[in-house]
Amino acid sequence: MLPELSLNVLDIANNSIRANATQIEIAISIHSDADILSIIISDNGCGMTEDQISHAQDPFYTTRTTRDVGLGIPFYKQAALNTGGSFSIASKTDIGTTVTATFGLSHIDRMPLGDINSTIHTLIISNKHIDFLYTYEFDGRKFHLDTREFREILGDIPLDLPEVSNYIKEYLEENQREVDGDYRF
Ligand SMILES: Nc1ncnc2c1ncn2[C@@H]1O[C@H](COP(=O)(O)OP(=O)(O)OP(=O)(O)O)[C@@H](O)[C@H]1O
Ligand SMILES: [Mg+2]
Repeated sequence: MLPELSLNVLDIANNSIRANATQIEIAISIHSDADILSIIISDNGCGMTEDQISHAQDPFYTTRTTRDVGLGIPFYKQAALNTGGSFSIASKTDIGTTVTATFGLSHIDRMPLGDINSTIHTLIISNKHIDFLYTYEFDGRKFHLDTREFREILGDIPLDLPEVSNYIKEYLEENQREVDGDYRF
């Protein structure tokens, strides 16, 4: 499979899920003037101590018990740094975690964003008890999707009901097309 930033987003969001987050925010913004693509993922999960934050960026650290290297964060960090971008983790125990990565938009080593809508859609429909706040922005044009707003309108109707699930997927795709115009990132 081709490497895509959307798969890294899935990875980082899965860390939030494993940290027992009930709310996850994912913000993607592209600024062509500054030549930057930035991705911010924040959660209200268990958080990390200062020590854990620095360890998390080390490939041999993991709190998993099924294997002894954690590669999600180190890979993602390297991918950002390889494009002249930046990477940082801010976290507080019992408050949550924010992972910020920026990428050189036009850098030859920047992975394509890939199918970000599938990532967001999958996260939403497979995590019923988690609220997702997603924003996507390109040069000032943007849209957002907030599962709290959907739930408010839908009441007891679950987001993974096929009609609702399809609607969410189409909502994401339509809005991204509108924001991106003829560009593909
Ligand atoms: N959002 C988060 N909240 C709390 N702890 C986190 C968060 N993200 C990462 N961590 C901690 O950092 C460790 C390293 O994360 P990383 O994604 O690099 O590896 P992993 O999740 O353990 O394994 P892999 O991603 O390869 O499946 C995790 O095991 C977890 O302890
Ligand atoms: Mg991980």
